[in-house]
Amino acid sequence: MVRLNVNGARHEVQAPDDTPLLYVLRNDLQLTGPQFGCGLAQCGACSVLVDGEEVRSCLTPVASVGTKEITTLEGLPARWAKQRGLSTEEAKATLHPVQQAWIEEQTPQCGFCQNGMMIKATELLEKNPSPTLAQIKAAFTTSGVSPNLCRCGTYVAIIEAVQHAATIMATGR
Ligand code: FES
Ligand code: FES
Repeated sequence: MVRLNVNGARHEVQAPDDTPLLYVLRNDLQLTGPQFGCGLAQCGACSVLVDGEEVRSCLTPVASVGTKEITTLEGLPARWAKQRGLSTEEAKATLHPVQQAWIEEQTPQCGFCQNGMMIKATELLEKNPSPTLAQIKAAFTTSGVSPNLCRCGTYVAIIEAVQHAATIMATGR
């Protein structure tokens, strides 16, 4: 039995301790935001936040997470609502600014990598609400265990979306 705290809810799952967190999220909890890309912690498609840090769930043993707070793409709106102290009604109608910016900038192409891109952007903007271009590039290339990879080449659109999300966070639009 493994106990997890995912998107603000407690879960108990039957899984061997060394099961990748990604498998538990997708197969047991039906959270399909995180994607299986490389399975080797080299692309970022599987990323989630663990206590606010981007983690590659494909190589993270589920038992190693313990009681830390896991946030998946699905949990970003509630995470933002909690941070902003929104009411329950307001929270239901809320997207995370990163998600809103990704839509407004029409960032994805095939979309497969974009879970990890939005998780990385959220990690960055929670630590640095007004990053420079160099800091954005560093976040997606040298800050983690590997760069976040996009086979469709949406990198310029991702930078613009991060800048847009920072503006939404600061101004509300
Ligand atoms: S699937 Fe986890 S980093 Fe690529
Ligand atoms: S949008 Fe296709 S891999 Fe990134």
